[in-house]
Amino acid sequence: MTTDTTGTVARDGDSRPGGPADSPFIRACRRRPVPHTPVWFMRQAGRSLPEYREIRASVPMLESCRRPDLVTEITLQPVRRHGVDAAILFSDIVVPVAAAGIDLDIVPGTGPVVAEPIRTAADVERIRLITLDDVSYVDEAVRQLVVELGDTPLIGFAGAPFTLASYLVEGGPSRTHAKTKALMYGDPELWHALCARLAEVTLAFLRVQIEAGVSAVQLFDSWAGALSEADYRRLVLPHSTTVLSGLVDAGVPRIHFGVGTAELLGAMGEAGADVVGVDWRTPLDVATGRIGADKAVQGNLDPCVLLAPWPVVEAEVRRILEQGRAAPGHVFNLGHGVLPETDPEVLTRVVALVHELSSRRADQG
Ligand code: CP3
Repeated sequence: MTTDTTGTVARDGDSRPGGPADSPFIRACRRRPVPHTPVWFMRQAGRSLPEYREIRASVPMLESCRRPDLVTEITLQPVRRHGVDAAILFSDIVVPVAAAGIDLDIVPGTGPVVAEPIRTAADVERIRLITLDDVSYVDEAVRQLVVELGDTPLIGFAGAPFTLASYLVEGGPSRTHAKTKALMYGDPELWHALCARLAEVTLAFLRVQIEAGVSAVQLFDSWAGALSEADYRRLVLPHSTTVLSGLVDAGVPRIHFGVGTAELLGAMGEAGADVVGVDWRTPLDVATGRIGADKAVQGNLDPCVLLAPWPVVEAEVRRILEQGRAAPGHVFNLGHGVLPETDPEVLTRVVALVHELSSRRADQG
């Protein structure tokens, strides 16, 4: 460990000038001056890319997440093609839960489907704590990727306890999260036991990624926006805090993201994040007012805007960069994942535009 002039702990291997720790992405996460606004896209490794579809045509999703050669190749594809400022590990939020012994599959067009949903205390006991050996393929893939990526940072990630619990309790994706909420309100003790177990699994999974060399982590609480702020604070925040605050000494920036979280942005920041991800519903200057000036923001182009004519995309990118200036650090991203029908060339143009517009501003001081 080394301590730099701002007192931030950095990991030795990463702190050389020009290395990932000095990249625009990590600098923006740490609210330091940047040569240009960094940009990456949630789900940048995925179905919008023909080269991804080609690989996946013959390999099921979970298998592709467990093969380090494929994880490495798929993670690198959007970096090569778009010149994004960060790579995100190709995996899925249910990978550690499957490694913990839960029988599940990722069904194309549907998402995660759990064979026997978790609804009782005995079910919670079926979720084993994981060790490095359970996810050695992730360790191997991250180590390989760090070498391949050179100065480009790699983002590790995990699903947050609430979003994972939702899949496990429902048995699959749900619009209302009705079974999850019924458990949460009806048996808070069991709910807390489930989330505490998931927080331990998630923490172990993120530690494996950090030990292997990721430069930042993102905790996806995609479905947290289904909750009121009071319920979020009481029933979810303590467990997300276990994960994010549990990594405070790890020396990598922590990003906390959810969808539909306008009312939760302040609370999500409190969980121990350096950066709060914002969906397209809340302008970044308004979001910053809610999150506070001690955190960077990430976002927030509506993924559907990428399906509109270029002048519309350009105007929205300009607006978001402008509103992002209110934050002490801004990582450009979408407000949620890339849609499969997105033209990859538009993504490449957005990267170039974000770089061009934000570096011009830096030149002008
Ligand atoms: O962002 C990236 O490029 C990294 C890879 C990544 C995937 N899933 C790959 C994936 C990440 C970060 C995730 C996280 C994830 N997985 C979340 C949180 C982010 C979010 O979208 O809110 C959630 C909720 C899941 C669960 C999940 N897995 C869903 C809802 C789906 C989509 C189902 C479908 O087919 O539409 C998946 C499958 C999945 N995960 C795909 C990819 C590329 C598509 C699988 C395929 O190509 O068939």
